[in-house]
Amino acid sequence: MEKLTVELGSRSYPILIGDGLLEEIGRHVAPLLKRPRTMIVTDSHVADHYLRRVGTALGNEGISFSSFVLEPGESTKSWAGLARLTEWLIGEGVERSDHVIALGGGVIGDLVGFACSIVKRGCHFIQVPTTLLAQVDSSVGGKTAINVPAGKNLIGAFHQPALVVIDPATLETLPRRELGAGYAEVVKYGLIDDADFFAWCEANGAALLAGDSAARRKAIAHSVAAKARIVAADERETQDIRALLNLGHSFGHALEAETGYSDRLLHGEAVAAGMVLAHRFSAANGICPAGDAERVRAHLASVDLPHSLASAGVNSDGKALAAHMAHDKKVRGGKLPLILTRGIGQSFVTEDYGLDAVAAFLDG
Ligand SMILES: NC(=O)c1ccc[n+]([C@@H]2O[C@H](COP(=O)([O-])OP(=O)(O)OC[C@H]3O[C@@H](n4cnc5c(N)ncnc54)[C@H](O)[C@@H]3O)[C@@H](O)[C@H]2O)c1
Ligand SMILES: [Zn+2]
Repeated sequence: MEKLTVELGSRSYPILIGDGLLEEIGRHVAPLLKRPRTMIVTDSHVADHYLRRVGTALGNEGISFSSFVLEPGESTKSWAGLARLTEWLIGEGVERSDHVIALGGGVIGDLVGFACSIVKRGCHFIQVPTTLLAQVDSSVGGKTAINVPAGKNLIGAFHQPALVVIDPATLETLPRRELGAGYAEVVKYGLIDDADFFAWCEANGAALLAGDSAARRKAIAHSVAAKARIVAADERETQDIRALLNLGHSFGHALEAETGYSDRLLHGEAVAAGMVLAHRFSAANGICPAGDAERVRAHLASVDLPHSLASAGVNSDGKALAAHMAHDKKVRGGKLPLILTRGIGQSFVTEDYGLDAVAAFLDG
């Protein structure tokens, strides 16, 4: 087992990573509890595979629990889902000192984290991520949210978990397409500030996606360490440090919006194409070598991820796409900070480029 820490003073918390950790999760949860009781929240896909295993491990440590199984899918991260979950928690007699377990992907983690930030003005929660995306990204850092009709993740809070337990073996049941989408976020850490890790991805990404467990563990540990470092340096994204995690995301959000946030294009798939566009836009403006942009495109294409507007299934014009970017919640003072790059592993935040320039580039 590997152990990392997110250093946030009195709110610091450990991240445990190891194949088979679900089977001993009770041992890691028990020391946190004031009373031997917890509540598990999950979705029905994950419940089918892992709920019993987690329950048995808790039982082995004398911890009693109740469980709440939600519908899988993004639509669960809604006002309605939040109302049902918070009312269930209250009905279960949740106390402020309790720790609720979020067992699932980013949808469950974001919803449970938000519910736990407001129920009884806040209780604790534990992230047990079961998708690659959640294991390398959403389970760490304390961003929680639901979606509303006006947009994704617009209502939420910063609420850090008390513990993150990552069992990479859970990825064995994850559909290949979801695995690929999570892998895009792994590649992102290389592109942000770690050219050696991008080279590692070029050499090992295909094996990881084919099920190589050593490659999977290494990618998760490396990614989570990067995320933990970034979050510790800039928890609430008030400097330009945490914003770098949005590399590929402004372009990506435009693609997601254009495809209606649907199964046509998963978030990670949009990010893959978005990262290529960010590199190509940087190259078009003479700040990034064209060869680096091509390397990024070639790697993502080689693992069957979208790497262009066409391969993302989008044929809208640049103006329509840039209009979506103008609604990004990161817009400040009417300007959208873009994450651009001077080359692989050399990303930075800039407000030097207007959306008209982006629109013209996308039409080019
Ligand atoms: N809080 C953050 O910092 C942050 C960062 C990135 C993304 N997110 C959010 O994360 C969400 C996406 O998360 P996601 O990609 O994990 O999607 P998800 O939670 O919808 O999971 C994807 C699918 O995989 C299934 N699944 C999960 N684990 C499985 C397993 N081990 N085996 C089989 N099936 C499994 C789920 O039931 C679901 O159908 C979005 O709502 C996004 O906004 C949050
Ligand atoms: Zn993302």
